[in-house]
Amino acid sequence: MKPKFDGYAAQYDAWFMENENVFQSEFRLLEKALGDISGKRVLSVGCGSGLFESMIDCKNIEGVEPSRDMGAIAQKRGINVIAFGAIEEVELEENAYDIIYLNGSSSYMEDLTRAFDVCKKALKPNGKFISLDVPKESAFGFMYLLAKAVGTFDHPSLRGVMPKLPYPLELCCAGVWHSTEEKVDALKSLGFHDFDFYQTLLKNPMYTNESVEDVVPGYQSGGYVALIAHK
Ligand SMILES: C[S@@+](CC[C@H](N)C(=O)[O-])C[C@H]1O[C@@H](n2cnc3c(N)ncnc32)[C@H](O)[C@@H]1O
Repeated sequence: MKPKFDGYAAQYDAWFMENENVFQSEFRLLEKALGDISGKRVLSVGCGSGLFESMIDCKNIEGVEPSRDMGAIAQKRGINVIAFGAIEEVELEENAYDIIYLNGSSSYMEDLTRAFDVCKKALKPNGKFISLDVPKESAFGFMYLLAKAVGTFDHPSLRGVMPKLPYPLELCCAGVWHSTEEKVDALKSLGFHDFDFYQTLLKNPMYTNESVEDVVPGYQSGGYVALIAHK
């Protein structure tokens, strides 16, 4: 099966460039969740084009990415892409990483437990696991679920309440939107512990690109949530 993001690299990056404040808000959340990565071995699962990593020193960040288009750009941006493939299928060194993170990629995974289990094996004991994503229960989640169900953003129920530049419809329809609690349950079933949560994009979607938002603790209001857990 063709990777979901093949052919969308340019559109994906262009969307964030046009939605600069959304990008900056999400970037702040990633920075907060990652903390200090100097001297740490870090893996980005579904590193995509490395757009977010291009904002930081990424020479020590390794990546796994199913889409060749996206991964090739990430390589140019300095990420060491160690495997082109889905996380469920790749072989990673065991007990090797201090931090493994998924920025926006769990929304394209059918079987979270399987994917998170691969990450767990590759993390060092007490290593940090981070998943940042659009929660299914958020305003963004509802908007994407409705667009996916009706196959368009141009639907009477969405008229007048959409952001100016919505996320590419094909990527929205390819998503398997998960709730934060679903992710917590999957991680708990694997023995992860010491959870923390941060969120951003608290405004409703049609207003989120008006300004850069601060990161706040918790997960019950944000359109983009970082879940942190430990092995
Ligand atoms: C929304 S994009 C995020 C890309 C990048 N992390 C970023 O923040 O810009 C989701 C990424 O997850 C990747 N992806 C989808 N399914 C995956 C899987 N099973 N394993 C690893 N990556 C996957 C996609 O190819 C895509 O690059």
